[in-house]
Amino acid sequence: MKKLIIAIDGPSGAGKSTTGKALANKLGYLYIDTGAMYRAAALAVLNNDIALTEEEKVINLVKEVNIALEGKPYQLHVFLNGKEVTEDIRTPKVSQAASIISAIGGVRQALVERQREMGRLGGVVLDGRDIGTHVFPNADVKFFLIADVYERARRRNLEELNRGESLSLEQTLKEIEERDHRDSQRTYAPLRPAIDSIQLDTSKLSPTGVVEKMLEHVEEKLNLVAKPLGTI
Ligand code: DC
Repeated sequence: MKKLIIAIDGPSGAGKSTTGKALANKLGYLYIDTGAMYRAAALAVLNNDIALTEEEKVINLVKEVNIALEGKPYQLHVFLNGKEVTEDIRTPKVSQAASIISAIGGVRQALVERQREMGRLGGVVLDGRDIGTHVFPNADVKFFLIADVYERARRRNLEELNRGESLSLEQTLKEIEERDHRDSQRTYAPLRPAIDSIQLDTSKLSPTGVVEKMLEHVEEKLNLVAKPLGTI
Protein backbone atom coordinates (compact mmCIF):
# COMPACT_ATOMS: atom_id res chain seq x y z
CA MET A 1 0.00 0.00 0.00
CA LYS A 2 1.34 3.46 -0.87
CA LYS A 3 2.69 5.32 2.11
CA LEU A 4 1.31 8.81 2.06
CA ILE A 5 2.70 12.15 3.12
CA ILE A 6 0.03 13.83 5.26
CA ALA A 7 0.31 17.51 6.18
CA ILE A 8 -1.48 19.08 9.14
CA ASP A 9 -1.13 22.84 9.40
CA GLY A 10 -2.88 25.49 11.44
CA PRO A 11 -2.46 27.93 14.31
CA SER A 12 -1.53 27.06 17.90
CA GLY A 13 -4.14 25.17 19.85
CA ALA A 14 -6.18 24.13 16.79
CA GLY A 15 -5.57 20.45 17.68
CA LYS A 16 -2.78 19.55 15.24
CA SER A 17 -0.71 17.55 17.67
CA THR A 18 -3.60 15.67 19.35
CA THR A 19 -5.14 14.67 16.04
CA GLY A 20 -1.81 14.23 14.24
CA LYS A 21 -0.61 11.73 16.84
CA ALA A 22 -3.88 9.82 16.75
CA LEU A 23 -3.93 9.75 12.95
CA ALA A 24 -0.31 8.60 12.72
CA ASN A 25 -0.98 5.97 15.38
CA LYS A 26 -4.03 4.59 13.50
CA LEU A 27 -2.12 4.43 10.22
CA GLY A 28 1.13 3.12 11.73
CA TYR A 29 2.87 6.24 10.35
CA LEU A 30 5.69 8.34 11.73
CA TYR A 31 4.55 11.53 13.47
CA ILE A 32 6.84 14.50 12.84
CA ASP A 33 6.23 17.46 15.11
CA THR A 34 7.99 20.24 13.19
CA GLY A 35 7.03 22.79 15.86
CA ALA A 36 9.12 20.75 18.31
CA MET A 37 12.10 21.27 15.99
CA TYR A 38 11.64 25.07 16.03
CA ARG A 39 11.19 24.88 19.80
CA ALA A 40 14.38 22.84 20.28
CA ALA A 41 16.27 25.31 18.08
CA ALA A 42 14.87 28.20 20.16
CA LEU A 43 15.94 26.47 23.38
CA ALA A 44 19.47 26.13 21.99
CA VAL A 45 19.50 29.87 21.25
CA LEU A 46 18.27 30.73 24.75
CA ASN A 47 20.74 28.32 26.40
CA ASN A 48 23.60 29.95 24.50
CA ASP A 49 22.52 33.43 25.58
CA ILE A 50 22.20 34.60 22.00
CA ALA A 51 19.76 37.48 21.51
CA LEU A 52 16.83 36.47 19.30
CA THR A 53 17.51 39.52 17.15
CA GLU A 54 21.08 38.48 16.30
CA GLU A 55 20.03 36.68 13.15
CA GLU A 56 23.48 35.63 11.89
CA LYS A 57 24.38 34.05 15.22
CA VAL A 58 20.99 32.38 15.52
CA ILE A 59 21.25 30.90 12.02
CA ASN A 60 24.79 29.62 12.56
CA LEU A 61 23.80 27.96 15.80
CA VAL A 62 20.68 26.33 14.33
CA LYS A 63 22.72 24.97 11.41
CA GLU A 64 25.05 23.28 13.88
CA VAL A 65 22.71 21.84 16.49
CA ASN A 66 21.54 18.28 16.37
CA ILE A 67 17.78 17.95 16.82
CA ALA A 68 16.28 14.48 16.91
CA LEU A 69 12.69 13.27 17.24
CA GLU A 70 12.43 9.70 18.37
CA GLY A 71 9.69 7.26 19.27
CA LYS A 72 6.14 6.42 18.37
CA PRO A 73 3.47 9.16 18.12
CA TYR A 74 2.38 8.84 21.75
CA GLN A 75 5.92 8.53 23.14
CA LEU A 76 7.67 11.18 21.12
CA HIS A 77 10.98 12.26 22.64
CA VAL A 78 12.84 15.36 21.54
CA PHE A 79 16.63 15.55 21.81
CA LEU A 80 18.89 18.57 21.49
CA ASN A 81 22.54 17.64 20.98
CA GLY A 82 21.81 14.25 22.56
CA LYS A 83 20.07 15.63 25.66
CA GLU A 84 16.37 15.02 26.14
CA VAL A 85 14.41 18.31 26.06
CA THR A 86 10.87 16.95 25.54
CA GLU A 87 9.45 18.90 28.50
CA ASP A 88 11.86 21.88 28.47
CA ILE A 89 10.66 23.04 25.05
CA ARG A 90 7.03 23.48 26.17
CA THR A 91 7.40 26.57 28.37
CA PRO A 92 5.73 29.87 27.31
CA LYS A 93 9.21 31.43 27.01
CA VAL A 94 10.32 28.83 24.49
CA SER A 95 6.97 29.13 22.64
CA GLN A 96 7.55 32.84 22.06
CA ALA A 97 11.23 32.37 21.18
CA ALA A 98 10.33 29.61 18.68
CA SER A 99 7.78 31.87 17.05
CA ILE A 100 10.38 34.68 16.79
CA ILE A 101 13.28 32.65 15.37
CA SER A 102 10.98 30.76 12.98
CA ALA A 103 10.53 34.04 11.09
CA ILE A 104 14.24 34.03 10.15
CA GLY A 105 14.75 32.68 6.62
CA GLY A 106 18.05 30.91 7.39
CA VAL A 107 16.53 29.12 10.38
CA ARG A 108 13.63 27.86 8.28
CA GLN A 109 15.95 26.73 5.50
CA ALA A 110 18.03 24.62 7.89
CA LEU A 111 15.03 22.97 9.53
CA VAL A 112 12.95 22.51 6.37
CA GLU A 113 15.83 20.60 4.79
CA ARG A 114 15.79 18.17 7.72
CA GLN A 115 12.00 17.86 7.62
CA ARG A 116 12.07 16.99 3.90
CA GLU A 117 14.72 14.38 4.53
CA MET A 118 12.67 12.85 7.37
CA GLY A 119 9.43 12.72 5.38
CA ARG A 120 10.50 11.99 1.85
CA LEU A 121 9.80 8.24 1.94
CA GLY A 122 6.18 8.76 2.99
CA GLY A 123 4.28 7.03 5.76
CA VAL A 124 4.40 10.27 7.70
CA VAL A 125 2.11 12.79 9.34
CA LEU A 126 3.81 16.18 9.64
CA ASP A 127 2.40 18.81 11.96
CA GLY A 128 3.38 22.43 11.39
CA ARG A 129 2.53 25.78 9.81
CA ASP A 130 3.95 25.49 6.30
CA ILE A 131 3.94 21.76 5.55
CA GLY A 132 1.31 21.86 2.80
CA THR A 133 2.46 25.17 1.34
CA HIS A 134 6.22 24.87 1.52
CA VAL A 135 7.83 21.77 3.06
CA PHE A 136 5.80 19.26 1.03
CA PRO A 137 3.69 21.21 -1.49
CA ASN A 138 2.95 17.85 -3.16
CA ALA A 139 1.80 16.15 0.05
CA ASP A 140 -0.88 13.52 -0.65
CA VAL A 141 -3.40 14.86 1.86
CA LYS A 142 -3.35 18.32 3.41
CA PHE A 143 -5.40 19.33 6.41
CA PHE A 144 -5.69 22.86 7.74
CA LEU A 145 -7.15 22.99 11.23
CA ILE A 146 -8.80 26.09 12.59
CA ALA A 147 -10.65 26.86 15.83
CA ASP A 148 -12.05 29.85 17.63
CA VAL A 149 -9.20 31.77 19.33
CA TYR A 150 -10.87 31.61 22.77
CA GLU A 151 -11.24 27.85 22.49
CA ARG A 152 -7.60 27.55 21.43
CA ALA A 153 -6.48 29.68 24.39
CA ARG A 154 -8.62 27.58 26.74
CA ARG A 155 -6.98 24.36 25.50
CA ARG A 156 -3.44 25.78 25.70
CA ASN A 157 -4.07 27.24 29.16
CA LEU A 158 -5.27 23.87 30.42
CA GLU A 159 -2.10 22.23 29.09
CA GLU A 160 0.02 24.91 30.76
CA LEU A 161 -1.77 24.46 34.10
CA ASN A 162 -1.28 20.69 33.88
CA ARG A 163 2.40 21.35 33.37
CA GLY A 164 2.56 23.45 36.52
CA GLU A 165 2.70 26.89 34.82
CA SER A 166 0.42 29.45 36.41
CA LEU A 167 -0.71 31.61 33.52
CA SER A 168 -4.13 33.26 33.50
CA LEU A 169 -6.43 32.57 30.57
CA GLU A 170 -6.01 36.24 29.52
CA GLN A 171 -2.21 35.84 29.40
CA THR A 172 -2.46 32.67 27.32
CA LEU A 173 -4.96 34.38 24.99
CA LYS A 174 -2.62 37.33 24.52
CA GLU A 175 0.33 35.03 23.78
CA ILE A 176 -1.67 33.02 21.27
CA GLU A 177 -2.80 36.20 19.50
CA GLU A 178 0.79 37.46 19.34
CA ARG A 179 2.00 34.16 17.93
CA ASP A 180 -0.88 33.97 15.42
CA HIS A 181 0.03 37.43 14.21
CA ARG A 182 3.77 36.71 13.95
CA ASP A 183 3.34 33.27 12.37
CA SER A 184 0.92 34.52 9.72
CA GLN A 185 2.56 37.87 8.93
CA ARG A 186 6.17 36.74 8.49
CA THR A 187 7.80 36.93 5.06
CA TYR A 188 9.11 33.37 4.83
CA ALA A 189 6.53 30.58 4.54
CA PRO A 190 3.84 32.25 6.65
CA LEU A 191 0.99 30.32 8.19
CA ARG A 192 -1.76 30.02 5.60
CA PRO A 193 -3.88 27.24 4.15
CA ALA A 194 -2.67 25.57 0.97
CA ILE A 195 -5.21 26.01 -1.86
CA ASP A 196 -5.76 22.25 -1.96
CA SER A 197 -6.02 21.78 1.81
CA ILE A 198 -9.05 20.37 3.59
CA GLN A 199 -10.12 22.83 6.27
CA LEU A 200 -11.53 21.45 9.48
CA ASP A 201 -12.95 23.65 12.24
CA THR A 202 -12.21 21.84 15.49
CA SER A 203 -13.95 24.35 17.82
CA LYS A 204 -16.92 22.14 18.46
CA LEU A 205 -15.59 18.73 17.47
CA SER A 206 -14.01 16.16 19.76
CA PRO A 207 -10.50 15.00 18.79
CA THR A 208 -12.02 11.61 17.87
CA GLY A 209 -14.53 13.36 15.62
CA VAL A 210 -11.76 15.26 13.84
CA VAL A 211 -9.62 12.12 13.40
CA GLU A 212 -12.62 10.24 11.95
CA LYS A 213 -13.07 12.95 9.35
CA MET A 214 -9.36 12.89 8.59
CA LEU A 215 -9.40 9.13 8.16
CA GLU A 216 -12.26 9.40 5.64
CA HIS A 217 -10.12 11.69 3.48
CA VAL A 218 -7.04 9.51 3.87
CA GLU A 219 -8.96 6.37 2.93
CA GLU A 220 -10.44 8.11 -0.09
CA LYS A 221 -6.92 9.05 -1.18
CA LEU A 222 -5.62 5.52 -0.60
CA ASN A 223 -8.48 4.09 -2.67
CA LEU A 224 -7.70 6.50 -5.49
CA VAL A 225 -4.05 5.52 -5.35
CA ALA A 226 -4.95 1.82 -5.36
CA LYS A 227 -7.23 2.30 -8.41
CA PRO A 228 -5.54 4.66 -10.85
CA LEU A 229 -7.99 6.63 -13.02
CA GLY A 230 -7.78 4.26 -15.98
CA THR A 231 -8.96 1.28 -13.94
CA ILE A 232 -11.97 2.89 -12.24
O1 DC B 1 3.40 24.05 16.75
P1 DC B 1 4.17 24.76 17.86
O2 DC B 1 3.34 25.67 18.69
O3 DC B 1 4.93 23.79 18.69
O4 DC B 1 5.25 25.68 17.08
C1 DC B 1 6.11 26.57 17.74
C2 DC B 1 6.45 27.72 16.81
O5 DC B 1 7.26 27.24 15.73
C3 DC B 1 5.27 28.41 16.15
O6 DC B 1 4.90 29.59 16.84
C4 DC B 1 5.73 28.76 14.78
C5 DC B 1 6.90 27.87 14.51
N1 DC B 1 6.66 26.85 13.50
C6 DC B 1 6.86 27.21 12.19
O7 DC B 1 7.16 28.37 11.91
N2 DC B 1 6.75 26.28 11.21
C7 DC B 1 6.41 25.03 11.48
N3 DC B 1 6.33 24.14 10.48
C8 DC B 1 6.16 24.65 12.83
C9 DC B 1 6.28 25.59 13.81
